Amino acid sequence: MTLDADLLIHSAAQVVTCASDVPKRGAAMQDVGLISHGAVVVKDGRILAIGPTESIRERYSALQVINASGQVVCPGFVDPHTHVVYGGDRLGEFEQRIRGATYLEIMAAGGGIVSTMRATREASVEALVVATLPRLAQMLRLGTTTAEVKTGYGLDLESELKMLEAIAALDLAQPIDLVPTFMPAHAVPPEFNGRAQAYVDWVVAEMIPAAAEWYQTSHFAVDGRPLFCDVFCEQNAFDLAQSRRVLEAGLAYGLPAKIHADEFTSLGGVGLAVELRATSVDHLDATTAADVARLAESNVVGIVLPAVNFNLGSHEFANARALIDAGAAIALSTDINPGSAPCPSLPLVLAIATRYQRLLPAEVLNAATINAAFGLGLGDRVGALTPGKQADLLLLNCTDYRQLAYQFGGNLVSTVVKNGRIL
Ligand code: NIG
Ligand code: FE
Repeated sequence: MTLDADLLIHSAAQVVTCASDVPKRGAAMQDVGLISHGAVVVKDGRILAIGPTESIRERYSALQVINASGQVVCPGFVDPHTHVVYGGDRLGEFEQRIRGATYLEIMAAGGGIVSTMRATREASVEALVVATLPRLAQMLRLGTTTAEVKTGYGLDLESELKMLEAIAALDLAQPIDLVPTFMPAHAVPPEFNGRAQAYVDWVVAEMIPAAAEWYQTSHFAVDGRPLFCDVFCEQNAFDLAQSRRVLEAGLAYGLPAKIHADEFTSLGGVGLAVELRATSVDHLDATTAADVARLAESNVVGIVLPAVNFNLGSHEFANARALIDAGAAIALSTDINPGSAPCPSLPLVLAIATRYQRLLPAEVLNAATINAAFGLGLGDRVGALTPGKQADLLLLNCTDYRQLAYQFGGNLVSTVVKNGRIL
């Protein structure tokens, strides 16, 4: 007798599960949970069983059956750090950088994040949704099935709440599960020029309470997805004390912490993340050896974003090799945004991380699936092919998962299954 399921995918050259109950560290990063000639069974939108094709086919039958011979099945990718909702573009700055200006120079001259703020403030919720949908569609085609999305281009109460509304509408309008992050402390807005401290006062007193209230009545709260609070801890953005105030205020209102730390300069953001038990600390380009050790001893997930370095034409990357070797839990993300990384592709990020950060194909795959899920506090529901988890999975046009990082510039994803539904 066989058990009834909704979907059975069988005869895959490889099924890679990326399974783990905790973020992977050290040598565990080199284990992708490989099953040769594997099969996956799905019921009610969740993984029901997984194993070698023979034994699975003996035990299960399903309404929909996919023969995945010649293909790899892996978890849907989780992109744990994005600024994908924004108005306008930064094509002019792209040309300025090609001519020699740096990202920080453009930012100090009133461009950068603040220029995207102007375009975002002018856009309606509807316009932001229309501008963002094609970006999310591209990410989905490239295998992303869960993504974090930050505010931070509104920089006033009304516009930051507008961005939250756009994120909620986008979550309902397309298949990728979105996880919202409130980031009013992304840059100092022009109204507060030279008065970062006063802006932080305003963020703490008015904006964070309003966002927490918004979250309570949002569908994200009902679904058990968190609203994170994030801050850009960087010169000409927010210093360490200001970053602490923002994150502590978020925590007081029930918003778990994330922090942009050490993107260009090390201001001590890693220590703050560890102290406040942040869910993740992101960028880590300028991280000191002492902070590498501190992060490795903590439960904070380190998220590295090598598409930023690539996009800024840099030859220096976060030392993800040292971070993993020290025992830190490392995830990868696109950071898709109009300035530092207009990149929807996690596979491209994997390709960059293997070359410039010397991570192995297995390590980058775990970093973009199970560890990225833990970087969003969702390690118990997405990021791996484990019975009980959401049936978010990919069929890849290759017979060895290492092709995912080996090839670049194309797209190996042939089919996306989201919540058990073939898209
Ligand atoms: O992660 N560093 C701050 N935020 C983004 C850049 C956003 C932008 O340039 O618009 C980042 O790199
Ligand atoms: Fe960012």
